[in-house]
This record gives sequence, C-alpha cells and structure tokens, in this order.
Amino acid sequence: MSADQTWPQADPGESEEAEKARRGAFTSRRVFIFAAIGSAVGLGNIWRFPYVAYDNGGGAFIIPYLVALLTAGIPFLWFDYALGHKFRGSAPLSFARLKEKFEFIGWWQVLICFVISVYYAAVLAWALSYTFFSVNKSWGSDTESFFIGEYLKVGEAGVQISVVWSVLVPLLVVWVGIGLILLLGVQRGVGLSSLIFIPLLVLAFLILVIRAITLPGAAEGLNTLFTPNWGALAHPGVWAAAFGQIFFSLSIGFGIMITYSSYVNRNTDMTGSGMVVGFANSSFEVLAGIGVFAALGFMAQASGVAVTEVVTAGVGLAFIAFPAIINEAPGGALLGVLFFFSLVVAGITSLISLIEVVISAVRDKFEMSRKAATGAVLVPMTVVSLVFFSTTSGLHVLDIVDHFVNRFGILLVAVVSLFMVGWGASALQRLADHMNRTGNVTLGQLWIVLLQFVVPVILSLVLLQELWAVIKEPYGGYPQWMLIVFGWLMAISLPIFGWIASQVSWRPDTSLAEPQYKTEEVS
Ligand code: ALA
Repeated sequence: MSADQTWPQADPGESEEAEKARRGAFTSRRVFIFAAIGSAVGLGNIWRFPYVAYDNGGGAFIIPYLVALLTAGIPFLWFDYALGHKFRGSAPLSFARLKEKFEFIGWWQVLICFVISVYYAAVLAWALSYTFFSVNKSWGSDTESFFIGEYLKVGEAGVQISVVWSVLVPLLVVWVGIGLILLLGVQRGVGLSSLIFIPLLVLAFLILVIRAITLPGAAEGLNTLFTPNWGALAHPGVWAAAFGQIFFSLSIGFGIMITYSSYVNRNTDMTGSGMVVGFANSSFEVLAGIGVFAALGFMAQASGVAVTEVVTAGVGLAFIAFPAIINEAPGGALLGVLFFFSLVVAGITSLISLIEVVISAVRDKFEMSRKAATGAVLVPMTVVSLVFFSTTSGLHVLDIVDHFVNRFGILLVAVVSLFMVGWGASALQRLADHMNRTGNVTLGQLWIVLLQFVVPVILSLVLLQELWAVIKEPYGGYPQWMLIVFGWLMAISLPIFGWIASQVSWRPDTSLAEPQYKTEEVS
C-alpha cells in the first residue's frame, strides 16, 4: 500500500504506522518545521509587513508587533498544533473530534483557505511574469501604467469579464505546478518542496538584502522604517494592524497549522517547534522590512524626494515601486530577478499549505484517495481563480476580497474558535496536557489565561475597530455593490457554507473518537 493513495478504514485504535500510510505524514520534525516555516513565510512577509510596519508607527510598531507575537501569535500557534496533533485530522475532523458541533469551524477555515488560495495564486502569477520582465525591464519607464494598464488591463471599478491573457497563462502555470507538487503527497510534495524552497529563498533574499543595503540612500530608507513614532501606540488601529499581521503571517487560525501538525509523529516536541517557527517567521519579516526600505531609500535619493513619498502600499509596492527601483539601480536586473523570484518561492510554499487544508478536509470527509481529492479541489479552485483574477476586474476584486477575508474571515474565526474551545468545551487544559506530554516548553496557567481571556478580548476589540473603520468609510472607495458582493457577502457566506458542510454525514468508517494508539506509548 503506498502512502497517501488509498483509504483503508479509519480506526480509532489503529497503529501510528497504519495512520501514516492512510493519511500521509512528515517523516521528521525537521521536515515539519520547514513546511511550517514555508507556510508562514510568504507574500505577507515580503510585501505586506514592510508597509504595515511603516504605516503603523515605523520603529514603534515593533512594540505592538512583539506583544502580538508573544501574547497571541505563539500561544495561538500552539493552540492550532495541539488541535491537529491530538486529534490527528484535518481542521473539520479535528474540531469534530473535540466536539461534534464544532465541525463547522473547521469548514469555515477550509473555505477561508479556498478564498485566499484563488487570489494568492494570482499574485504569484504576477510575480512569476515579473521575474521574467526583470531581465530586460520590460515594464519601461512608467511602471504604474505598465502594471495597471498594459499588464493587468484593469478596467473601471466594476466587473468586466474580458480575459487578460498575460495573466491567464502564468496563472495556469502556477496552478499546474502546484497541482503536481500536491499530487506527490504530504512528505514528497509538501515536505520536500519546503526543504528545497526555503534554503533557496533564504539565499536569494540574503543576496537581495545585502545588495539593497549597499545602495546609496539605503540608510535613509532604514531611518524612515525604524524611526519610532511613539504617538502611534495610542491608536487602536495600530494594535489591530499588529494582530492582523501576526495571524496572516504566521498562518494561524485558519486551519493550516492544524492540518500540518496532524501529519507529525505523535512523539514530536511541538512547543519547541512552535518557538522555532514563530521566531524564524518574524526574523524573515524584519529582514524583508530592511531589504524593502533600503531599496526605497535608494529610490528616494535617486529621484530627489523624501522616502515617505515613494512608499506605497500592497500591490503597488511590489509591482510598481520595485520595478521603478530596478530601473534606477546599478545591476537592477539581478535585483529584480532576486526580488520577484523570492516572492514566487515564498508564495509557493504558502499556497501549498493553504490548498493542503482543503485537500486534507475533503479526503477525511469523503475518504478519498490523495489523487482524487487533489483533482476534486484543484479543478474548481483553478476555474474560480481564472474566472475572477485573469479578467480586467481582477485587481479590484482581489483587493476587496483580501481586505475582508483577513479581517472578517481569519480574525473572526480565530475568536470564535477560542470561545468555543476555551469556554464551550473547556478544553484548554486538555490541550495543554497533550502538548506537555512531549513538549520542551511547558504550557502552564499563563497559556490558558492568554487563550481563555486575553487573546479573545483583544481580538474582539480589534474586530470591532475594523468593523467601525469599514462602516465609517467604505473600503478603498469601491462601489457599494462590489463591497457588498466581494466583501460582506463573501465573508458572511463562509461560516454559513461551513455549517452546511458540517451537516453532511461522515462516512461510516470515520471515527469521531479521539485516536487511541495501540502501540508505541511515550516513554
Ligand atoms: N502566512 C502566509 C503569508 O504570510 C499566508 O503570506
């Protein structure tokens, strides 16, 4: 029987070996840590963190950021690990095994991953095109008109279904490539790709950062990023941004870490692994901030303006400001290839993790082989991704969906899961006991207090703040109908469809009892 391909009956008392053969597994702690870092380090680190930090107090942002990492990020990472590692299932199965009524939370997370995947792949496709464009700077001198007009062919805000071939082709390449990796299974696909891509990413990115900080004007860029604006700490929005960034960036709260930890040998130290992943992700994030702002400092000096004038948010930073920097910098082509290649590589391992959440849930629910489940998930995802994001309205839809799913998807489901598990099932102590069986770092009362009281309260306040912000001012100046359809309706439909999915019965062979192994007791 080959791992990942067949589905003998799930048995609450099956041996660990049988479980590994049935579901697939990482062969070692090292592979798991690489896969978890691969998931965490993504577009969120390279392109989102630098401008979020800059926008929210610059150097002073490090305080809310560290508070968010230590009080919510790492504790929540352990929470996800505990659920997946103890209950040995995809997000819906792990929640169902904790308490049957909680299954919908897992499906809600699966749907969030579905939504993020379809637009995340589009950004990867752009980065892939731009890696090639970098070689001879095909974007010309007006990088903004090239990106918006010539490359994306963005129309007026509204939905126009006319195909943009320059995006459709690389997007198809991304989906086919990701499909091939995922077909290989947990160890050979997810695990091995991270073992290859993460060192490659670190190497490319280090060369990029060293080049960036040796450009003239780099110091000014770094001063801009790191000069603290202490006044910013008084704004609730700054704290909201820090918590939002940590959840997206660490890949916590939306099923990824539950899924990955369900593939980990049950004697593995999960708490120590969480520390490694958390700090590796943040280190990469700060490194990205340094690289991006050094480059912006160069750009500002070259065009004789202040750094603040060349900082743009989100998509604009990577696809408009960076090409402009590449135009000016000595050896710009290499800088461009390294930057966009890093985006592609970092994004691939994150996209793999997002899709694995869906594949693993479909496999568990319908007892499907890996091949069948990969096809059943990737075909609709590819179609949705192509329909929405290789058309002239792609950029607008992407921006709205990204904004809403991060706030009223990821953060909301995180709060709901904490309330359900902490208060509804009073299960935090059980989860801590599980982690402490093998963990190097002991989860004590502090962890429970953080997850039972502190994090749910902070996340609720963050959400209220975000809700107030979008009510006060419609996001991005888009037409109301677009915000309703791609923002509100999308976000509200996820828990509803999640609940509907949870009403479908499990196959008779699937046990909702907590797995009890027949062999290999922990010594
Ligand atoms: N954690 C992934 C990122 O930062 C999703 O892009």
